[in-house]
Amino acid sequence: MSYQAMARRWRPKRFEEMVGQEHVAKTLRNALIRGHLHHAFLFTGTRGVGKTTSARILARMLNCQEAEAENRPCGICPSCLEIEKGSSMDVLEIDAASHTGVDDVRDLREQLKYAASNGKYRVVILDEVHMLSKAAFNALLKTLEEPPPHVVFILATTEVHKVPQTILSRVQRYDFRRLTPVQVRDWLAHISAEDGLTVEPEALEIVALRADGSMRDGVSLFDQVYAYAGENITAEDVRRTLGVPDHASHQRLLESLRDAQVGNAVAEIHRALERGVDPTEYLRGFGEFLRNALFCRLDGLPDGALSMLPERQAQLKEATASLHEGDLLRWARMSADALGQMRDAHHPRLVLEMAVARMACLDRVADLRRLVAGEPMPPLRPTEARPAAEAASAPPPAPSEVARTAPAEPPRGRGPSFQQAVAQDPRLHKLVDDFDATVLSE
Ligand SMILES: Nc1ncnc2c1ncn2[C@@H]1O[C@H](COP(=O)(O)OP(=O)(O)OP(=O)(O)O)[C@@H](O)[C@H]1O
Ligand SMILES: [Mg+2]
Ligand SMILES: [Zn+2]
Repeated sequence: MSYQAMARRWRPKRFEEMVGQEHVAKTLRNALIRGHLHHAFLFTGTRGVGKTTSARILARMLNCQEAEAENRPCGICPSCLEIEKGSSMDVLEIDAASHTGVDDVRDLREQLKYAASNGKYRVVILDEVHMLSKAAFNALLKTLEEPPPHVVFILATTEVHKVPQTILSRVQRYDFRRLTPVQVRDWLAHISAEDGLTVEPEALEIVALRADGSMRDGVSLFDQVYAYAGENITAEDVRRTLGVPDHASHQRLLESLRDAQVGNAVAEIHRALERGVDPTEYLRGFGEFLRNALFCRLDGLPDGALSMLPERQAQLKEATASLHEGDLLRWARMSADALGQMRDAHHPRLVLEMAVARMACLDRVADLRRLVAGEPMPPLRPTEARPAAEAASAPPPAPSEVARTAPAEPPRGRGPSFQQAVAQDPRLHKLVDDFDATVLSE
């Protein structure tokens, strides 16, 4: 038997099997049971979240011959089986991307004149509907306004903003949600258990994060790893197959940046690249890591705002607690800039090396808010701060050192005002210039 892709094999056949779209499933099922079904639907949401799958489930529910509405689709009646095989005359699945013209819609209207053969409804699934031409949309509009009573339309699209308002106002719209990493991970755990695979929990986590909200991507990536690794899958297998850097490497890089160890920082990325990690992937991952490190300090973020699993948050928070938000922010911005440069670069590796070296060479920032409030500045590099006794006996720091070391004794309660400090020290000038305007404007 030929190998059937996991994503196809694991396509849900009933709404109960779908992950994360309970709101859609519940509304549709209730409408069907009560007999209040609309004749035109629009399923929207990002790629691979279950739009086409739901359209097919709905088509089966509508035509299923099972007496109890709750039990539809039964999956065993002739109608369910035919639709499953794709041989039903009553379900027309049309890829609007390759049938964009007005003639295609006219053909469709002709076909819809005939009553359903086996079941009760003729169901038209128009996938990627945003690809229709303007004329085709207009032709479709007429049909949507006065559809034959036995016809149900299901339009699906990832780009709802390209669908004309006239169409939108004639359909019942369902917004499909992105899947959270936890939902993808748990579903992958389920299907790998059913398929008898042994998988390291971390392996599933990496794939789930990489899926970036799409269940299809999650399952397909997992399939790719399975093709490489076989029935025992480790986190290392996943990293190798997908070229994903290890977060431990990002953590070590961050520590080298914190300690301004340029050599260690560059050595860390070399180690990752030698293991086959793509430079762009490495930098993208590092940017995300910094973003997570910043965001995990904030409370009240919506679910899924962090691209990490909830149980890892506390760990990351602890591991990056000693770092200054201002530094994280600047490094994140520098990573994003470098990522932009990489797009057209002939030598992405070089861009990565330069970016990391620059990040490690930067003087770390002092907390401007504390400075504005008139508090004395903390040392910029804790590792370079002089011992207290030595600092006390040393002559007062030269102005150029103000930014680097805290005054041994803050002048009675308040340090220099922000403006004074900036005026005294050209290095502070530069620091302020560099500092993200959003932080300053707070
Ligand atoms: N909510 C979900 N629960 C379980 N599996 C899902 C879900 N969404 C998608 N899948 C998996 O992804 C595959 C593709 O899903 P589907 O074709 O329904 O996505 P889609 O939203 O139509 O994507 P596209 O926008 O790319 O057309 C399914 O065969 C199934 O394996
Ligand atoms: Mg689809
Ligand atoms: Zn059935």
